[in-house]
Amino acid sequence: MRLIFILFFLFSALLADDFITRMEYAKLLYSNPRGIGCNKCHGNDARGEVIANIKVKGEIKKFSAPSINNATRAVFFKALNNPKDIMPKYSLTDEEMESLYEYITKQL
Ligand code: HEC
Repeated sequence: MRLIFILFFLFSALLADDFITRMEYAKLLYSNPRGIGCNKCHGNDARGEVIANIKVKGEIKKFSAPSINNATRAVFFKALNNPKDIMPKYSLTDEEMESLYEYITKQL
């Protein structure tokens, strides 16, 4: 009896159109975009985060990544295609960037 249930679940998983939805995939990309996760610098909620506190001439300077959950499409794609500062360069496809943009600005 248990075997029938297991087979049923296997078949329904195989027959499903997409194994995971586009937003589930984008969520995975956000923390693992084939490189250091966006969340490591921009925070799990994409509202920006302090990356490091650096002591310069006895004064603590905060070094942070900006909030990106309200980024416009132009700013978002420019940052990914042409990153400044310490933001890494990723090799994401247009579709992956599009999914990430939607996930970050609509779901986070
Ligand atoms: C190592 C830290 C780090 C990682 C990892 C990182 N970023 Fe950034 N990101 C930054 C910093 C710092 C800036 C600010 C750079 C600048 O001066 O424009 C930035 C800027 C941006 C901006 C532009 C924001 C604005 O208002 O100008 C976007 C959009 C962005 N990042 C998205 C992402 C996405 C999406 C990922 C993952 C694929 C990612 N970042 C990964 C550090 C990081």
